[in-house]
Amino acid sequence: MTHSPAPDTSRPAPSAGPDRTKPMDTERLRERALAALLAARERTTLLTDSVDDHELTAQHSPLMSPLVWDLAHIGNQEELWLLRAVAGREAMRPEIDGLYDAFQHPRATRPSLPLLPPAEARSYTAEVRDRALDVLDGAVLRDDRPLLRSGFAFGMIAQHEQQHDETMLITHQLRSGPAVLTAPKPPAPTDAGPSSPEVLVEGGPFTMGTSTEPWALDNECPAHVRDVPAFFIDTTPVTCGAYLRFVEDGGYAQQRWWTPEGWTMVREHELTAPLFWYRDAGQWLRRRFGVTEPVPEREPVLHVSWYEADAYARWAGRRLPSEAEWEKAARHDPASGRSRRYPWGDEDPAPERANLGQRHLRPAPAGAYAAGQSALGVRQLIGDVWEWTASDFLPYPGFSAFPYREYSEVFFGPAHKVLRGGSFAVDPVACRGTFRNWDLPVRRQIFSGFRTARDA
Ligand code: AVJ
Ligand code: FE
Repeated sequence: MTHSPAPDTSRPAPSAGPDRTKPMDTERLRERALAALLAARERTTLLTDSVDDHELTAQHSPLMSPLVWDLAHIGNQEELWLLRAVAGREAMRPEIDGLYDAFQHPRATRPSLPLLPPAEARSYTAEVRDRALDVLDGAVLRDDRPLLRSGFAFGMIAQHEQQHDETMLITHQLRSGPAVLTAPKPPAPTDAGPSSPEVLVEGGPFTMGTSTEPWALDNECPAHVRDVPAFFIDTTPVTCGAYLRFVEDGGYAQQRWWTPEGWTMVREHELTAPLFWYRDAGQWLRRRFGVTEPVPEREPVLHVSWYEADAYARWAGRRLPSEAEWEKAARHDPASGRSRRYPWGDEDPAPERANLGQRHLRPAPAGAYAAGQSALGVRQLIGDVWEWTASDFLPYPGFSAFPYREYSEVFFGPAHKVLRGGSFAVDPVACRGTFRNWDLPVRRQIFSGFRTARDA
């Protein structure tokens, strides 16, 4: 079985790098892990209690699992890692492991599996959680067991649940019918926005990735030095208004802006605009969580594939930033020469710094979150929209899979493009300056946008 816990073997020991942060004491880590697990469950409960049993078991799109699959899969991963791998417990229901192994059953086939019905999925997941909290209570967060070091397994499982909470929010966006989720709009910007549309990032080395972030996932490690030539990067994500000019300039009708694969996608699916946009009586509208509205000009564009982001950038006379460029713009502090945990510094995200955690069910207007800007004045790098980069998803030098190959390693290669920064739908626990997301370049149901760059 592909998802089963691998032996609890070595993880590279944290090395003293320029981004070294003070180790947290174990009681603080235990509290943090508890808070992260509880916050994730609160979100999962909201996303699964807001629809009836019929909608929980239905498939709203062949791209997505039924919500009830995500729910029991969340419980099953928690059982595998916190009860079996960490605490050495017996399987609670060995017969269900295969059903919830993402590698055995592609998403499109999941509705036809003998899945746990909603009431059973809820009680199984709750029972696992009760036991996992007991394990956390008694766990010695020892340094000599990599799964327990800094409470890693608990942080990993809280992140996993939050990742599926973002996936479930995508399913909510794809479902038809009236809205069931509501949230306040993001707060109004506190200033007039960045003073220029792009900034120069000087050439030179910076530290990419991390060897010290306690809950960083394997693909973010280890920290290493990258030399990045000078480039310019947008101070905000590309807006719907800017993207609309590409659409209205005939961007989707002109092959010259597209890679061959991108052009094939445009023609096969007769694409004319981002997903969820449509034209009605001469006006561009879009549907979001069951509500239709005019396309909001100042908001970062959402629901574009990598091919669309790449084509727009070419039309604009620019290009997508590489992953290293994105991370340097986000983390590099020229004054100290070190890399920050987040664009604004080393402090954890707060509501005035970034739009995260499904507090608002949309991105904030471009130029918002002055308090979250990077040392170089680049805004909204964390939160709002996931940002496509030009880069393939590849391991860093010195990468080693931990704790299972199926989290990252099996996805490395040219098929997947890297996204950075996190959307309004991702929780702070699953989002950092070093966090790496990836997807196929055709995907656009995800909360994806982008910003552009150019050589200096
Ligand atoms: C990191 C978002 C690409 O959802 O496919 C969830 C996260 N891995 N369960 C995904 C994940 C296993 C993953 N992404
Ligand atoms: Fe998963």
